[in-house]
Amino acid sequence: MAVSRTTVLIGAFLSVLTNGIDSQREERFIYGAFPPDFMWGVATSAYQIEGAWNEDGKGPSIWDTFTHTPGRTLNGDNGDFACDSYHKIHDDVEMIARLGVQFYRFSISWPRLLPDGTLYHINEMGIAYYNALINALLSHGIQPMVTLYHWDLPQALQNIGGWYNESLVEYFNDYARLCFHRFGDRVRYWVTFNEPSSVSWLGYGIGIFAPGLEEPGTGPYKATHTIIKAHVRAYYTYQREFKPGQRGMVGISVDSDWKEPASDSHVDREAAERAILFKLGWFADPIYGASGDYPDVMKEYIGKKSHAQGLEYSRLPSFTEEDKMQNRGAADFFGLNHYTSQIVSHHENKPHSPDYGHDQDVQNIHDPNWKNSTLDWLKVVPWGMRKLLRWIKARYGDVPVYITESGVSDFGRLADRDRVDYFRMYINNVLQAIHEDGCNVKGFTAWALMDNFEWTSGYSQKFGLFHVDFTDPDRRRTPRDSAIYYAKIVHQNGYMKMLREFKKKCERIYQKEKEI
Ligand SMILES: *[C@@H]1O[C@H](CO)[C@@H](O)[C@H](O)[C@H]1NC(C)=O
Ligand SMILES: *[C@@H]1O[C@H](CO)[C@@H](O)[C@H](O)[C@H]1NC(C)=O
Repeated sequence: MAVSRTTVLIGAFLSVLTNGIDSQREERFIYGAFPPDFMWGVATSAYQIEGAWNEDGKGPSIWDTFTHTPGRTLNGDNGDFACDSYHKIHDDVEMIARLGVQFYRFSISWPRLLPDGTLYHINEMGIAYYNALINALLSHGIQPMVTLYHWDLPQALQNIGGWYNESLVEYFNDYARLCFHRFGDRVRYWVTFNEPSSVSWLGYGIGIFAPGLEEPGTGPYKATHTIIKAHVRAYYTYQREFKPGQRGMVGISVDSDWKEPASDSHVDREAAERAILFKLGWFADPIYGASGDYPDVMKEYIGKKSHAQGLEYSRLPSFTEEDKMQNRGAADFFGLNHYTSQIVSHHENKPHSPDYGHDQDVQNIHDPNWKNSTLDWLKVVPWGMRKLLRWIKARYGDVPVYITESGVSDFGRLADRDRVDYFRMYINNVLQAIHEDGCNVKGFTAWALMDNFEWTSGYSQKFGLFHVDFTDPDRRRTPRDSAIYYAKIVHQNGYMKMLREFKKKCERIYQKEKEI
């Protein structure tokens, strides 16, 4: 899929004409290359692709339980079979190799390795699957980037309270140590948790994700507190026991929308800042910030509201001084998942029942002019990517940032013009953030390698660079236009203006060298 230079220029020109009034919101496009060591990748997660939900000794996860409960997902879809990746290492690796990317981000299913979540029983067949996958990747020169927790908690650990129970810090640490021990000789990039705010809010706040609990005023804060501690504990386990020999990096992947103030007023600008801090800062401030603690504005608002609700203590748990010292700096890189943006205004909530959403005193809306996708929450706002990267730099400094997910859903045609446009413009805003704002972005990961089980939306939403035929028992994979386009960006390491002339020049230089 070649997007001609003319198309690009006309597109940029038109967007200036239509959005030119508000210079902050126009779409800019620049040519240029990413730094030579920039890393390109593509991502999936275990529950969304593996299938084989009860094969070879795997234990049940909370997502098995959740999807097997009627009414939880669209059409009752589940991940029992999914893309059958458990049996398709060869097909998966071949697809990844075709993209030419330097790394593949996948997740390990905790209950596939530890069926009841603990070291009581180690499932060697699960270990063998990930060993085979990692080895196949490396034989194609593709680095594994491994996520330890992409939401599929062993059901046995939910039975003792899930992330409400602080003993999960130890269980997670045991599991992480096992992974470092068995795979770490070949894995240099580790992500402890994927989008922990989705776990806390969607799983423990509004209950639309497993484990399906609806405790919006307390659940998210309690679950998050344990998750941060679990991340930090596993980080130090790696530092102490594995880093000297394995020399890898450990980070966490937080997700955030960009929050654009609805107006220039002081209250709206503060509201937008508050919304980002409640979403991204909730996890990132303790780990990447100077205080090792939750953002002040969260402590203030949740404390104030808890008091008004007649509670003796804030619903936001607090870290001890020792916790804060440990939290601070407990990551080697910053993983960022970013998809979309919102317009935020100040909105003071009347006294209400406890709720993480209400605690923020903000209202989030979408600009009706933003381009849609097939998911309500996912509007296409490329400039939000750049602004969010700038925000991260301003708040957390020059920590290396890996964009660990970004992508868009559609109904699944092979000629996926909208996904091509999404990647063209979002990745371009990453380039602008690097070149024009000095952001220390080290890598980009497209979500997703192939269509897969999209949680409550089941198989109705397609995010794949590769199409998967879910009616075919063989789950045949076919590249979309976006796969070809992404491969081109990866190959050029950016956007080249005069590719043909450049190639000719290279050939001439190469020819001369041969003559000498
Ligand atoms: C937390 O887990 C421990 C096991 O480590 C268990 O003994 C305890 O009962 C659990 N707490 C709750 C509230 O379920
Ligand atoms: C998105 O917007 C276009 C143009 O307004 C419309 O034709 C299309 O049906 C919309 N798609 C969805 C999924 O809402």
